[in-house]
Amino acid sequence: QTKLTFFFFSVQATELTSLGTRLTATESKTSDLEKENADLQTRLNSSESRIDQLETENAEKPKVAFYTALTDAGNLGPYNTDITLKYSKVFTNIGNAYNPSTGFFTAPVKGVYNLQFTVFGYHAGNIGVDVYKNNQRIMANWERNDNNYVPEYFTKSLVLELTAGDEIHLVLPSGCSIYDSSDNYSTFSGSLLFTL
Ligand SMILES: *[C@@H]1O[C@H](CO)[C@@H](O)[C@H](O)[C@H]1NC(C)=O
Ligand SMILES: *[C@@H]1O[C@H](CO)[C@@H](O)[C@H](O)[C@H]1NC(C)=O
Repeated sequence: QTKLTFFFFSVQATELTSLGTRLTATESKTSDLEKENADLQTRLNSSESRIDQLETENAEKPKVAFYTALTDAGNLGPYNTDITLKYSKVFTNIGNAYNPSTGFFTAPVKGVYNLQFTVFGYHAGNIGVDVYKNNQRIMANWERNDNNYVPEYFTKSLVLELTAGDEIHLVLPSGCSIYDSSDNYSTFSGSLLFTL
């Protein structure tokens, strides 16, 4: 009887020891998993705050784009003096950086801008447009047409680094003319490529 009891206790003790070992291993595994989980939580938090930051930056990014045509009134010029062209048909003006009452585009932020214009001549001798930045001419263009009944075009584009407040406008040089109608032949457009 005593021997048998001792035998059972002995077996139970062995089992307890083995259970204890397994418990210790499980506990250590649990603590590893907890640590891993905390690390992942930290990384998730930092990713989430980075996404928030990028979303805010993207929402605050200035949007600037305009597209205009000159007039419905037909031929403009030639005059014996230079005149500022006021593109009066405004089709796109995101950010309102183009002012149709002055013809001036004013850069709202420092950045790189793309500008483009097409000049059309009809029943014209010379056609031409000069580009001005802050009232300084930065580009001159003209074309001579000896046959007044041949329509003529040219398109030019510029990529300019501008600071906030820089002004761009187009000028019809003296002796030149430009033509536009409801067909939108003569256009002026621009957009912000990226900020600096
Ligand atoms: C992660 O963010 C949650 C919610 O903002 C916060 O409760 C938790 O303490 C943060 N955890 C870590 C590890 O930064
Ligand atoms: C000129 O442009 C405006 C705006 O896009 C458009 O409504 C109009 O039809 C255009 N004229 C022609 C002849 O395409």
